Amino acid sequence: MPDKVQITLKPLGESVKVNPGTPLIDVLHEYGVEFPCGGKGTCGSCKIKLLEGKLVIDEIQQQKLKKLKLDRNWRLACYCKVESDITLEISQFDNIILADNSTFEFKPQKGFGIAVDVGTTTVVSQLVNLENGHILDSISEVNAQSGFGSDLISRIESCLNGNYGELQKRIRFQIVSMIDKMIQKNPVHLSKIILVGNTVMHHIFSGIEVEALSFYPFHSPNLGIQKFKAEELNLKEIKNPEIYFYPSIGSFVGSDILAGIAATKMSEKESFSILIDLGTNGEIVIGNNEKIICASTAAGPAFEGAKISQGMRATTGAVSSVNYENNKLKPHVIGNVQAKGICGSGLIDVMAILLEHQQIGMFGEIISGEDYIKLTNKVLLTQQDIREFQLAKAAIAAGVQILLNKLQITYKDIEQVYIAGGFGNFLNIDNIIRTGLIECESDKIVKLGNTALIGAKMFLFEREHYANEILQKTTHVNLEGESNFQDIYIEKMMLV
Ligand code: FES
Repeated sequence: MPDKVQITLKPLGESVKVNPGTPLIDVLHEYGVEFPCGGKGTCGSCKIKLLEGKLVIDEIQQQKLKKLKLDRNWRLACYCKVESDITLEISQFDNIILADNSTFEFKPQKGFGIAVDVGTTTVVSQLVNLENGHILDSISEVNAQSGFGSDLISRIESCLNGNYGELQKRIRFQIVSMIDKMIQKNPVHLSKIILVGNTVMHHIFSGIEVEALSFYPFHSPNLGIQKFKAEELNLKEIKNPEIYFYPSIGSFVGSDILAGIAATKMSEKESFSILIDLGTNGEIVIGNNEKIICASTAAGPAFEGAKISQGMRATTGAVSSVNYENNKLKPHVIGNVQAKGICGSGLIDVMAILLEHQQIGMFGEIISGEDYIKLTNKVLLTQQDIREFQLAKAAIAAGVQILLNKLQITYKDIEQVYIAGGFGNFLNIDNIIRTGLIECESDKIVKLGNTALIGAKMFLFEREHYANEILQKTTHVNLEGESNFQDIYIEKMMLV
């Protein structure tokens, strides 16, 4: 068996070497490919065309392909493991896939656009042909400000400690380099660049002071859309594109969530939906076509791996899911390599299993009395990690409860719960419910990947008023200011 096998991705023109036996989902999710049904083989959105090489199809995949009326050149990426060199065409890049697995209907326009999701942990950008919606290129990188702390509070503190200029320089330089790389590879006429991100990223990128976000009531007067000229950003090769950083909804609910609302189309539906983004900052949105309320929680970045002793994001080496077989935890590691740490979806799985098998109690205590649980020879889950999980889970669950109370509805009135976040593709829905993170039936839950990026791509085709319409319906709630927040939060810490 070869040491490494090569995957060539079309139309991106990228090649990547991985260990034989690596599931394709581990590779493709890094390129912004979404897996809407989470690998159940029902949506067909992860379909890929095998241009060269071999990808074995088992009996189950054969059936699924038949049902989806796909001929023998096609595979479902969520079912495939790579055993030898292959060349693939990513079909999803021919369309913008929405949260409900439909494709985005757009008015074709001249030119090309770039959508950028400026995440606290990861920055992702895609180059889109505005005439046909095809994605020509996709780049994902760790945010260049990461050395200044993993969460928003540390970034704000760094800014206030005299590093504002450096943080701004780094993120601008990173995004400009991404754009340059894409344009050098695909020399096209760029007419629009749209950035979305949380309020802190919006402020730092745009040159707005972050001090107002550092103390109660955290009100920034500058949440609006920011426009830039190519020269200001040092984009020399590009002639007069429109460049926007889209507006934030509230102090800690940014345009990434505005884009998420667009991607789920929740602002157009009569029935109520919930959108939960388990990113570095946990944000919650509940609403319908009349009214939307949203909040950010103090969930912190536990689900992105920070604050967990061996936490990491959903990338090569992360335990992304865990099963329980023969009385043992059986972790799956992204990239089929040795485990280096655990990401959010793995953490949720292991917590659910430990609860199910009574290895932890309702207060999160490890029943054996040890201070850690061994996942692999190299990866341990400590008692402190379990506490961090409880804090993050309680923050989300309490946030949802308070927003539901405010709208005077319950989970029963909710038609769909959308879960977004970098590790969304790997989430096990039953385990989300088992841990008490979300308290509804599993068939209401739709797990998504990067709704911020999907929404940003939609914004490339729309005028600003589309985003403004969502903004006008949306109210931001400060959870900490709610009198019953502490009581509900403490109640939700329990693992029952
Ligand atoms: S068929 Fe839905 S993700 Fe693969």
